[in-house]
Amino acid sequence: MDYRHLFSSDVPSFMRSPVREIFRKVDLSAICSFAGGYPAAVTFPVEDLKTLPGRVLEKYGTKALQYGATQGVPELREAIAARYGVPVSRVQITTSSQQGIDVCTRILCDPGEVILTTEPTYLGALQSFKAYRAFVRPISAFTLDSGEGTRPQTYGHPRPYKREGPIASDGRGRSEAEAVWGCVPSPNPARVKFIYVIPDFNNPSGETMTLEERQEIVALARELDIVIVEDSPYRELRYSGEEVPTIYSLAPERTLHLGSFSKIFAPGFRLGCIIGPEELLEQIYICKQALDLCPPVFDQYMATEFLTSGALDANLVKTKAEYRRRRDLMVSLLEKYMPEGVTWTYPEGGLFLFLTLPEGIDTIEMYDEALGRGVAYVAGSFFFLDGSHRNTMRLNFSFIAEEKMEPGLKLLGEIIKGRL
Ligand SMILES: Cc1ncc(COP(=O)(O)O)c(C=O)c1O
Repeated sequence: MDYRHLFSSDVPSFMRSPVREIFRKVDLSAICSFAGGYPAAVTFPVEDLKTLPGRVLEKYGTKALQYGATQGVPELREAIAARYGVPVSRVQITTSSQQGIDVCTRILCDPGEVILTTEPTYLGALQSFKAYRAFVRPISAFTLDSGEGTRPQTYGHPRPYKREGPIASDGRGRSEAEAVWGCVPSPNPARVKFIYVIPDFNNPSGETMTLEERQEIVALARELDIVIVEDSPYRELRYSGEEVPTIYSLAPERTLHLGSFSKIFAPGFRLGCIIGPEELLEQIYICKQALDLCPPVFDQYMATEFLTSGALDANLVKTKAEYRRRRDLMVSLLEKYMPEGVTWTYPEGGLFLFLTLPEGIDTIEMYDEALGRGVAYVAGSFFFLDGSHRNTMRLNFSFIAEEKMEPGLKLLGEIIKGRL
């Protein structure tokens, strides 16, 4: 049966993740893979988890197996509220922070409206934005028009989105942006709806925004009177340097801060949270009723126990020590094996660092050779809205078996040298 005529008009906007495509094509366990963004299995609290389910059943009984509140179970919301120092009314539990991104986009954005982001940015967010047929624009691409001429700033209002003429049946007449983003023509000029940023240990770059940069984002959001989605799954994984205040703490009236249990507990539980203004959470609450009724209840009680017993913090100390060691090892191996002209970011936390190779080396084009010789990475241009920066790549240091790190980076260094 041909199903194509049955699909909704949203379907063409669904975008495959290049990272997951790599997973589908190759047995990454057989090679040296720096491609995925998985946590190290040794950080999972397996010993705690042998007793946690029993403790949850004893303490909460069959309540732990029942449907729960759409906002999340009160016990976990209270524990998170205490951790963040916010009222419980400002906490919504989500079924992963990926769902957090999705649901924020869903309540804020109509097709054709605009989301601003820094680059490089998280692919999973771009998939969500595209699925809602939003335009995504780099913050740096615009100048701010204050009404008194253009200020010498690197970001601001995008041009209003207006169709210039009708679209022919063969698609002619569609603007390039419409073609790329599959955007429907909108009778209204496009509006900027929110700014999406990953201020702490960006995926993919590993970089952290300074306080001044965060303040600039807040100033822009206040000027445009829009919301900021602060995606923060790595914030608790800091290995060096000084903590920088969250954007939420700078602008609690307009920030939706997304947290995740994936990197501090285990991603298999699919638990996250949104901290934000009650009026926005109310819409998310209604939207989530249709999505999944409630986040997984048993998992939430396990997370509650793990958090309130102090086990999460104890495990976090071990997790950070493990990742700090791995980051330092990767940096020292890059220094040893990368040829002159290759540079990389130095992440103070998170799971990634980002390499820039000499101009002219194309990491997408180099990819088949790398895979063939036994090493995998993710090409950096996937994380740029216009596919530029083809001489960059993302390397993950959390998941690869430690003994594969040296042969993998040695090989990568040789492959790059061969292209100089
Ligand atoms: C920046 C960013 N946001 C969100 C997510 C999704 O995390 P979760 O497992 O909570 O859905 C990831 C996962 O890699 C990420 O890197």
